[in-house]
Amino acid sequence: MLQSLFRKKSIQPHAQTGLKKCLTAFDLALLGIGGAIGTGIFVLTGIAAATQSGPAVVLSFIIAAVAAGFAALAYAELAASIGGSGSAYGYSYIAFGEVVAWMMGWMLLLEYGVGAAAVANGWSGYFINTLANIGIAIPVHLTKAPVLGGTINLPAFAIIWVLTLLLMVGVKESARANNIMVAIKLSTIMIFLVLAIGNIQSEHWQPFMPFGWFETLDNGKNIGVLAGASLVFFAYFGFDAVSTAAEECQNPQRDLPIGLIASLVFCTIIYIIVSGTLTGVVPYTELNTASPVAFALTRLGYTWSSTLVATGVLAGLITVLLVLLYGLTRILFAMSRDGLISPLFSAVDPDRQTPNKIILMCGVVVSIVAGFIPLGELAETVNIGTLASFIMVCVGVIRLRQTHPTLARPFKNPFNPLIPVLGILACAALMSFLPASTWQRFGWWALAGISFYLIYSRHHSKLAQSNT
Ligand code: ALA
Repeated sequence: MLQSLFRKKSIQPHAQTGLKKCLTAFDLALLGIGGAIGTGIFVLTGIAAATQSGPAVVLSFIIAAVAAGFAALAYAELAASIGGSGSAYGYSYIAFGEVVAWMMGWMLLLEYGVGAAAVANGWSGYFINTLANIGIAIPVHLTKAPVLGGTINLPAFAIIWVLTLLLMVGVKESARANNIMVAIKLSTIMIFLVLAIGNIQSEHWQPFMPFGWFETLDNGKNIGVLAGASLVFFAYFGFDAVSTAAEECQNPQRDLPIGLIASLVFCTIIYIIVSGTLTGVVPYTELNTASPVAFALTRLGYTWSSTLVATGVLAGLITVLLVLLYGLTRILFAMSRDGLISPLFSAVDPDRQTPNKIILMCGVVVSIVAGFIPLGELAETVNIGTLASFIMVCVGVIRLRQTHPTLARPFKNPFNPLIPVLGILACAALMSFLPASTWQRFGWWALAGISFYLIYSRHHSKLAQSNT
């Protein structure tokens, strides 16, 4: 039994799979930027500055970037040498065996699926406010989940469906839409910076670290720069969706590492500048709002541009949703192809060359989660799952260097195993700064995952069938 849990796949680097190979390094970098810059910088920066880090939120972003950076290097090595649309799930199948791969896939569902539902809720908040600004009011019961006294969060539900349909149309079309919206998102950030930088008052940066490094309060909430880092880490993930595009890019060995590393470096620079500017123009105590970037501009007297920026943020959050949903469908596609979830889902539409059944299933599930479940603290739950998966990717690099020393590695981390070891330590440290309630939810999610595996996946696995 134990042996069957750890049955492993062999490596078939960058196999042909029927998906269309059309993405360039530029598309990939924009995919990473599209997936990363969103709720984290546009919403959570304000919350983290006001309640956890103060102006030192900029340090929180730098600390979170270190963990994400090591993970990006580990991803780059595995994506370039192994590839596969299952990303970290696929690497784990080769390095550790089936049960670990399943759990990795399960964690990625949390990152991409629940993450997308959380971002859809953030998008809905901006959408409702922007409509209200132009005099259009949505009935209140259609803006909230039932447990908050509403019927459904209709905008969150609807936006998931619009993007599901776009993904069904085709990956190149989706990448094109993504590129346009990333351009809008970056212009929005530029407008904010141009207007705000001249208004920085250094007094706003004092005291710099009002909440210290780390402390757990009586109510169980963690505060301090390190706790802030574990929250704003939400801003970084999404860049790893680049690795799920391995089967659809023209030159994966070269382009995947470029896409992964370029998008992360770019995001880190943007986050440091934006968070530093935001806390420099408004007292950090006032930033605990749903739209801190727009709020700061309003407070500086730029009312018209505040609305413009809020609209740009809407486009920006759509790119995050698009990339997370894209990644989700590709990971489930890989899991379905392996028989760990029903193989019915892995059929590729012959005309559009997209896995339409799985896209539809993701649309149904994520839209229901987004429409009917209020997601508040789930951002932290998403973070813990993502950090766990980043750790496994780093362990995977070390393991595969031992088990497959001669594998062609177009991108190779120097001083092995230094970088993955630092990645493991940095991600584990960020996990340890998350509150106990988040760890509990993480435990329940893991338990549900292992139960599903033991009841269904273990018996339906294609690898199990081919071994008998
Ligand atoms: N990193 C993405 C965001 O901040 C998920 O919205």
